[in-house]
Amino acid sequence: MKIIVTETYRELSIKAASLIAEEIKRCKNLVLGLATGSTPEGMYAELVNFYRAGNINFSGVVTFNLDEYVSLEPGHPQSYHYFMRRHLFDHVNLAPENVNIPSGCAADLESECHAYDAKIEQAGGIGLQVLGIGANGHIGFNEPDSSLKVHTHCVNLTEETVAANSRFFETPDQVPRRAVTMGVGSIMKAAKIILLASGSGKADAIRQTTKGVVTTSVPASILQVHRDVTLIVDREAAAQRCLL
Ligand code: GLP
Repeated sequence: MKIIVTETYRELSIKAASLIAEEIKRCKNLVLGLATGSTPEGMYAELVNFYRAGNINFSGVVTFNLDEYVSLEPGHPQSYHYFMRRHLFDHVNLAPENVNIPSGCAADLESECHAYDAKIEQAGGIGLQVLGIGANGHIGFNEPDSSLKVHTHCVNLTEETVAANSRFFETPDQVPRRAVTMGVGSIMKAAKIILLASGSGKADAIRQTTKGVVTTSVPASILQVHRDVTLIVDREAAAQRCLL
């Protein structure tokens, strides 16, 4: 696990965007796994800057997002579909047919999950997966539990995650209690992974993700056994990290 510690959130965002840009230069048909949450917002802004400056071309890139809330329509301002359009898709030359986000509104969510995994496989698997991390160590919406699911699945969100994400909604009651998420298997099959964390609220999760123990009570800790993971963390998030 490689750990890059940055002085600022801006530096973290530029570093993450630069790694993605390099990877797209290396492989113009990159299959790129994307994350939502406030942490990658700066990275998306930098990617849009790179695109406007003519330094990145998304025309051959295929994207797969990690997750979506169950029951939020793609037009809902708090849906991850909407987030991705607002922060990236509306501003760059990604082909709409190359963009994939699991539906949280499919009539048959189980089939939707199977179909999503099949589509990732058909695309050749994820080349580079971007991750954020929950304060409780979740990745995507793989919550701490006694076991972790391998494939894309529906999950009941923990009260902690509902509380953390309620800042995006008018009231906590509006936060969906369920989500569709890629499983840890789909994430771990990615050839490369970058995980972003910013702020002191993530320091304990980063400590637990880097301390040499894999536990389902900290889902991100499984990343320690992946062969190509880069953590990009600012100083606050890195404050308690363990040096592996
Ligand atoms: C959500 C997303 C995760 C994200 C996490 C942290 O729960 N499903 O993919 O990593 O929030 O979000 P933030 O970056 O806003 O702290």
